[in-house]
Amino acid sequence: MRNIIIYLLSVVLFCSSCSTRQTQYKIGVSQCLDDAWRQKMNQEMARELLIHPEMTLSTRVAHGSNELQCAQIDSFIAERVDLLIVSPNEAEDVKPAVTRAYRAGIPVIIADRRVTGDEWTAFIGGDNYKVGSLMAEWIKEQRSKAKRTHGRSFTVLEIMGLDGSTPATLRHKGMTDGLEGLPVEIHSVPGYWHQENAYDAVTQYISSHPLPDIVVAQNDLMAVGAAEALRDHPSSATNRPVPIMGVDGIQVGLQAIEDGVISCTATYSSRGDLVIETAARILSGKPYVRDTVLETVMVDPEAAVLLLMQYRERNHDLETLHIVQLRSDAVWHEMRAERHMLILLMTGVLVLFLMVLAFLFYKQRGLQHALKNEVVPQLENVQEAIQLSRRDEAFAERLRKVVDDHLSNPNLNVEYLGTMLQLSRTQLFRRVKTVAGKGPLDYIRERRLIRADELLHTTDMTIQQVALELCFSSAGYFAKCYKDHFGHLPSVR
Ligand code: FRU
Repeated sequence: MRNIIIYLLSVVLFCSSCSTRQTQYKIGVSQCLDDAWRQKMNQEMARELLIHPEMTLSTRVAHGSNELQCAQIDSFIAERVDLLIVSPNEAEDVKPAVTRAYRAGIPVIIADRRVTGDEWTAFIGGDNYKVGSLMAEWIKEQRSKAKRTHGRSFTVLEIMGLDGSTPATLRHKGMTDGLEGLPVEIHSVPGYWHQENAYDAVTQYISSHPLPDIVVAQNDLMAVGAAEALRDHPSSATNRPVPIMGVDGIQVGLQAIEDGVISCTATYSSRGDLVIETAARILSGKPYVRDTVLETVMVDPEAAVLLLMQYRERNHDLETLHIVQLRSDAVWHEMRAERHMLILLMTGVLVLFLMVLAFLFYKQRGLQHALKNEVVPQLENVQEAIQLSRRDEAFAERLRKVVDDHLSNPNLNVEYLGTMLQLSRTQLFRRVKTVAGKGPLDYIRERRLIRADELLHTTDMTIQQVALELCFSSAGYFAKCYKDHFGHLPSVR
């Protein structure tokens, strides 16, 4: 019985434990912007989350505002998120909020752009100085070609991202360091990472400057913006084409290369998957790499075509994955409903079972109680007594008959009686005692006295005659026994 209860309880507990998923972690994601590159990163994180159901993301976008980003980080701290992923808008301005989170005991992963100081848990981002170096290499290549064609000084129009962000400063530094000592004129205009800003900046620049020999934009979107500005220039039809380089290698940039709008780009991985994997490692106490710098490579038109193909395949895979996810969600919901039904059913069965058990238990207790109060023994005793008394009654009758038949026989004694009743001396004593409450001799005497009393009352026999008749040794002894039994002398009638 106990085993069955344990089994049933384990089944119910197992079923309910299925519904209690493992520890859930809430991750705050603070994105500085919401452009195509960020969306790619968000997608990568979302995809990786499929294998980390223990985490849920809550994403907030600061739309390029340091104040908003700090406020959003503070709200994540107030919500006590388990981990924070921050892509800082500008290193110095966002640092205080990051430090607050870190000091509040929240692990912080810095993604893509760095913050100053080292109060953060892990960093994952591209090699921006290397990006700048690649730009310098490309500029040098283009310059050598241009010298052959034009034989004049070389002008580079650099479209910069937000200058307080580490990628902007590092890319610029990598590029200028790479061009060190070369007769190259660099004109930098701010594009703040946005296509529209780049368009405006380039439009303004070319309205007051001769066309640059080359344009390097610190991201693909700004490169496309620059291309649009050049295309929209009044004398664009007659102008020589200006080679443009972007950075990122996102689909927009690759497409622009394939379409001949820009010349090349440098990859700048977002690796949202790695960010999530690192978060999972930190949360589960596994070892992780504190500072991950991602590789960057140059993408020429040929590589762009290849990467575009991969993109398209990946997009298709993502769509398939999305459908699979939707289906598995549906199956999961169905299973959950079924599991709830099962739990309900099992609980019902268990309750019923416990009720039956309780009923049986109390019934048994009632019985035990009755037994304790000797209801049953009494019943048994009565039955036993009935059986016994039947046997004893028969014996008592035989005893009385045998004794009564020999009252006048002077040989009637214990031995004689035993022989008559076919009982040993001990048996005779025990059984006579049981039915008559006295020993055999006393019983014989009692029967003689009762007969004597009868004779005295029903005949004219004298005390002497009666005593003799019933084998008393003398009339005096008879009188004494008679008085002991009836409480008065035989003469008193
Ligand atoms: C996206 C972006 C990318 C750039 C990176 C630098 O928001 O502007 O284009 O490479 O950020 O942090």
